[in-house]
Amino acid sequence: MDLPEPVSAAVVAPAQRPEPVSAPAQPAYAARFDAVGLTYSSRGKSTDALNGFSLDVRSGERVAVVGPSGCGKSSLLALTAALVAPTTGDVVVDEAVALMPQRDLLVPWRSALRNAALALEAQGVPKSEAARRAAPLFERFGLESFENSRTWELSGGMRQRVAFLRTVLTGRPLLALDEPFGALDSITRAQMQEWLLGALADDPRTLLLVTHDVEEALTLADRVVIVTPRPGRVAAEILVHRPRRTSRTDWVTSLEFAGLKAEALEALA
Ligand SMILES: Nc1ncnc2c1ncn2[C@@H]1O[C@H](COP(=O)(O)OP(=O)(O)O)[C@@H](O)[C@H]1O
Ligand SMILES: [Mg+2]
Repeated sequence: MDLPEPVSAAVVAPAQRPEPVSAPAQPAYAARFDAVGLTYSSRGKSTDALNGFSLDVRSGERVAVVGPSGCGKSSLLALTAALVAPTTGDVVVDEAVALMPQRDLLVPWRSALRNAALALEAQGVPKSEAARRAAPLFERFGLESFENSRTWELSGGMRQRVAFLRTVLTGRPLLALDEPFGALDSITRAQMQEWLLGALADDPRTLLLVTHDVEEALTLADRVVIVTPRPGRVAAEILVHRPRRTSRTDWVTSLEFAGLKAEALEALA
């Protein structure tokens, strides 16, 4: 009598067969720029701000775009927020965008709280409800007891935090920050950078930040994208692995940071 073949462990009855393995999940993208060109035309003069600019930003990633003044950084964020359309190429943005413009754009006739609440009012939330929702964030953003201050009573760093609070309050997952700390002195800027990292750790978002400051980019981002002078396109990309729980001082004085900075400056030269 023929004995049945022993069933090997590798043979699985059809009912128990695992689901067919699907293709590996594609990373989710927050924004993709494919061979983007942007030409402004005004009063008979045309300016190429970007040309052949390609970049993918994954959901949850922190990307810093660094380039000289006039290379098209603000234009890139305007494209991201669909304030302008590309002249050539494609821009696909799959996450709602909270844009923090280059100037803080706080209105002097409103208190800090009512300035922050503007973000929600612009989305149609009634005034009192908007203020009620903005108020709890003041403590988290180090602005407690300044809710009723006027903008001229706030320091530069506090104004930036109100503007940032307003940006975050929209609840939108993609933060597009345009030189958010550019107007601050270097000490306040360093504090604000650490504060931003803390805020993002508590409430993770995708970050697309533009700056002309290489150190700021290497301090805040997972990936630094170097852009050429106008018309801007990507000259180099630098991956940053800042060890967790390394203090800012230890990071910016490390050999690794110095190496990345040299790489960035060379790409900018
Ligand atoms: N609305 C506009 N109309 C005409 N030219 C513009 C406009 N906005 C920006 N530009 C020009 O496009 C180029 C890129 O500008 P911008 O994106 O603001 O650069 P960056 O933010 O890197 O300094 C500059 O030469 C600028 O003068
Ligand atoms: Mg700009």
